Amino acid sequence: MKETEVTESWNHIFIFVVHPIIIIIVFLYSINLTICDSISAPSDTILLDCGSSGESSYNGARWIGDIGSSFLLPKYSKSSSTLSVLNQYHKRVPKIPYSTTRIIHSPLNYTFSFTRSLKFIRIYFLSASYLNMNPSKAYFSVKAGCYTLLSSFSPFVASQELNLAYFTKDFLVNVVEEKLNITIIPSSLISNAFAFVNGIEIFSVPSTIYFPVSNFHVPYLGHQELNISDHQYALEMLYRVSIHEVENVFGAWVEDSGYLYSSLHGSVLDSRIRPLSITYNTSTSFDFNYSAPEELYWIARTMGSNQDANMEYNLTWSFPVDSGFKYLVRLHFCEISMEVTKVNQRVFKVYINNQTAEERMDLVALVGAPFVAFYKDYVVMVPRESERRRNMSIALHPNIASKPKFADAILNGIEIIKLSDSNFNLAVSFPLKEEHQKKKRKAPLVIVLACTSAVAFALFIAIYVLIHQSCKKQNRENLQVLSLNATRENYKNMQVKMTSGHQCYQFTLAEINIATDNFKEDQVIGEGGFGKVYKGIINDGVTPCAIKRCKKGSHQGFKEFQNEISFFTFCHLNVVSLIGFCQEENELILVYEYMANGSLCDHLYKKQNQPLSWNQRLKICVGAARGLHYLHTGTRQSIIHRDIKSANILLDHHLVPKISDFGLSRIIPFSSHTHVTTEVKGTFGYLDPEYYKRRKLTEKSDVYSFGVVLFEVLCGRPAVKRVEVEEQSEKVGLAEWALHCHQCRSIEHLVDAKLEGKIRSDCLVAFVEIGIQCLSHRSVERPTMGDVLSKLEDILSLQESFEDQEITM
Ligand SMILES: *[C@@H]1O[C@H](CO)[C@@H](O)[C@H](O)[C@H]1NC(C)=O
Ligand SMILES: *[C@@H]1O[C@H](CO)[C@@H](O)[C@H](O)[C@H]1NC(C)=O
Repeated sequence: MKETEVTESWNHIFIFVVHPIIIIIVFLYSINLTICDSISAPSDTILLDCGSSGESSYNGARWIGDIGSSFLLPKYSKSSSTLSVLNQYHKRVPKIPYSTTRIIHSPLNYTFSFTRSLKFIRIYFLSASYLNMNPSKAYFSVKAGCYTLLSSFSPFVASQELNLAYFTKDFLVNVVEEKLNITIIPSSLISNAFAFVNGIEIFSVPSTIYFPVSNFHVPYLGHQELNISDHQYALEMLYRVSIHEVENVFGAWVEDSGYLYSSLHGSVLDSRIRPLSITYNTSTSFDFNYSAPEELYWIARTMGSNQDANMEYNLTWSFPVDSGFKYLVRLHFCEISMEVTKVNQRVFKVYINNQTAEERMDLVALVGAPFVAFYKDYVVMVPRESERRRNMSIALHPNIASKPKFADAILNGIEIIKLSDSNFNLAVSFPLKEEHQKKKRKAPLVIVLACTSAVAFALFIAIYVLIHQSCKKQNRENLQVLSLNATRENYKNMQVKMTSGHQCYQFTLAEINIATDNFKEDQVIGEGGFGKVYKGIINDGVTPCAIKRCKKGSHQGFKEFQNEISFFTFCHLNVVSLIGFCQEENELILVYEYMANGSLCDHLYKKQNQPLSWNQRLKICVGAARGLHYLHTGTRQSIIHRDIKSANILLDHHLVPKISDFGLSRIIPFSSHTHVTTEVKGTFGYLDPEYYKRRKLTEKSDVYSFGVVLFEVLCGRPAVKRVEVEEQSEKVGLAEWALHCHQCRSIEHLVDAKLEGKIRSDCLVAFVEIGIQCLSHRSVERPTMGDVLSKLEDILSLQESFEDQEITM
């Protein structure tokens, strides 16, 4: 009994006293190493443009052609050929190094002389049919020193998997000699295989970025313990994923949304609030250029504010990897929520490949404070299986065993790095399946050809053509399957999102075609940046609806489409309802209830409509204010519309106003009482000046825009108007004009000529007053939508009593 207690207390001493000291020592040591290494880094960069000659400058970098260079022995120049390719390709393909290539039919060596250090090696590939050779015959290995970087590698297959015509493969290799050979070997597994390479980039990097300093223990999700020491491994940098795009010396990190696997995607916590200062955990060495850039920690993905829903799912990312290798998984964390500042407020589990990597991840407890950036490494074995590719999953789930304040989880970035195996391989050779089948089918035909007549020869030709075509077709089908799956994935996400709200119907494209008479031009009722809006009839020709068709290929359109769908989980008389959507054959279509009277601006100045009475205008303002107040406060989270304007306030056949267009809307969690910082979006003339200057988005930005709408209603003129001032055309903002008139006590100049004599003077004063308050430069001085609403209701009842009097008189 006693003995165990003694050992336990020694354990405690180790954990709390000795361990931190070791960490600090290791840290100091690594800083030292990092500084030394980074000084030597830039001097030995090589950018080799394969298949070209001389030097060329591109995007600020100096590339050297491999023809006649010291890196390639003359004998290799003879056994390979070079080719220019770009003219067949899209303008978006970077000219260097992709416009030239070296085609290789027998093993070829590039030799580089170097200082010894850890090298980053990037190899550039553009999959194309070079010299009309079948791109699927490009099948080869690449070695760097004793390491096999690629084996049985098919750029054609890789480019299909990535859905990119050009791409790079990135490696880290510890070079222990003063030179490095990069050898490219066409595969012997298939006949007439060739190799090609478009470019090679090499530079030195600090040795500590991924290799922990000497035998540092890394948690290993497998059965045995694992020690990594720095020169037994070569690495392939497979995935560097962040929540928003960031960049470091190795290039851009990719947004995580393409790898999200769970049906729910949580929410993005954006805390680019200045002065937000992130500090760095001292137990991991940070070098912003080489490891994660600082911006990575500014934005995180959390599970979302619906804590009951969080308990029901794992926030999961999934990455295809090769089976039979170990991977270094580096997870980046930073607690950036204003609410989570103490221990036991956000505690979660981390699973990697369904194994528990962390049972109790409490960032504040782990690093001692919020706003501390931190990463943690895990080594994961993915066992060899019959399937070459497998998915590596990373999942987060709340741990509520100790009753933390929030049932939530948070993550800022993921890196997945493949480790070479004990035979210095980063890849194993895997024969292409189809190739074997092809050979089998061809062999008997060749025999027939050899021993019989020209009839058989003709037969051979015929069958060959058939096979060839069917292969081509199969390839096309494979591509289709790929894109179909992607669409299905999108459907799945949307459907899950929508089940939480009211019923939303998924239309087929055929139904939409019928509803709009094949998108007939005379059915167009509106047009915007996203595309056209058509009037349609659904439900067997009874219910009118508005059908918004996003422009094809617009990335912005797709984002706004998703946004619209995810925001339509609420239902209010003064908010336009979404009836359904359609996503088919590259079409993104939203179907809304039909608003017979079009937009508010049509009635104020845009079209020759019967002018609205002051009473009608007040009622519209009250209704719109109700809708906006509901968005700000009536749902679980506060929704900021971000694009309030008279064109987005629609009127039904009874002139009931409804707020529409949620393409730019953002959610702000209630409890946070903060704002989000974002890119400035909205419409000129309605844009909150404070939001514009500081990118600080709050509900008050909508209040400002609503103030502009109030003056549009009063003045009957647009938010921005061209006026002739001393023979010059100038754009004058309605907001400034209103403020000017208010200051000069000449508010009667603001009144629409059509309303003259129709407005009670105390109503006018009160209306201008609330409008001016909405336009306050400082957001804190603006009223809330609730205040605006009750003020407008008072003005309306005052006006109504006035009109009643008029009638009785
Ligand atoms: C993890 O579990 C899921 C669901 O049971 C399964 O589909 C997936 O293949 C598993 N992954 C691994 C690596 O075992
Ligand atoms: C989350 O993932 C773990 C590991 O795969 C699994 O055991 C657990 O059941 C999952 N939880 C939910 C709610 O899906």
